[in-house]
Amino acid sequence: MIFMYAAMGGVPALLFLYLISSLLLLKLEIYILTILIATGLFVFSVLGFYESYSYKPDKSKIISPEVYRAVNYTSKEPRKSWEKELTVKVKRFNNLEKRFDECTYKVEADKYSTVLGSLIKIKERLDPTLSVRYSCRMGICGSCGMVVNGKPVLACETNAFESITEKGIEVEPMQAQGMLRDLVVDLDEFFEKHKSVAPYLFREDKKEKYEAKEAYKQTKEELSKYLPYSYCIMCSLCLDACPVVNTNPEFIGPQALSQVYRYHEDSRDQKGSQRLESIDSVLGVWGCEFAGSCSKACPKGVDPASAIQLLKGEVVKNIVIKDEKND
Ligand code: SF4
Ligand code: FES
Repeated sequence: MIFMYAAMGGVPALLFLYLISSLLLLKLEIYILTILIATGLFVFSVLGFYESYSYKPDKSKIISPEVYRAVNYTSKEPRKSWEKELTVKVKRFNNLEKRFDECTYKVEADKYSTVLGSLIKIKERLDPTLSVRYSCRMGICGSCGMVVNGKPVLACETNAFESITEKGIEVEPMQAQGMLRDLVVDLDEFFEKHKSVAPYLFREDKKEKYEAKEAYKQTKEELSKYLPYSYCIMCSLCLDACPVVNTNPEFIGPQALSQVYRYHEDSRDQKGSQRLESIDSVLGVWGCEFAGSCSKACPKGVDPASAIQLLKGEVVKNIVIKDEKND
């Protein structure tokens, strides 16, 4: 990468020379210097690109799965009086050997610690090989979804002390998606399902976006029809809790269906019956068996189960209207 950095550093130097030449009205010397630097830049850029494209990771530095297989880690730090020692059992997906390993960690936590906080502490102080996905640490981004003591939860919103059982705290990745590594799951399919239901407002007049004269207006009643369903943070916990998704991954799932309802009920949306027709199948709205576990798992109170039942009603209404028109 050294050549790439050298090329990047040369750009400000070149600009600086141009500035000096225009200020001092220098000619020949500056032209020669500029040509030299430009040639150097070109050579460094070519070498830099070659270097980055030919980069291969040093395989000897990749930690082999055996290193962390069924290992116990204990923090050596002196415990503060207000801290407790937690036993955290983590079921980790070993992406190299396609199997699960279980690691047990002992780590200090106080009464404000979250499960995510404890995992981060483990990663920072005991085992840097542990992979966890997170971002906001405050229940907003939806990236820290995992299964704690058998329940799909946001780890950043789950208190560690309150999660202690006789066996300690048991943490594992969500099971309804593909696995990437340790606690990190592959959410590609989940986002594809979300994308497939056109989760945005559809307007017939494409130009109004650029030539809008006033804001879209809604009454409180119109807003309240879809507002709770718009709080989804796409954490995919509802999918993990859904027994239908867990047995039939083709089922579109509670998150995408709740978003169909959210946009269908929005008075600004003009997609009409198209949204309903797209989910009128057993892999769509009729696949739901109304277990209700999606709504229990949702950390934002979205209640996908109710959205799906209301959606079923809308689909039937749409079929009746169509039949009446055909008669
Ligand atoms: S509906 Fe709730 S559980 Fe499902 S993805 Fe959205 S926020 Fe997460
Ligand atoms: S880290 Fe963002 S929701 Fe938990």
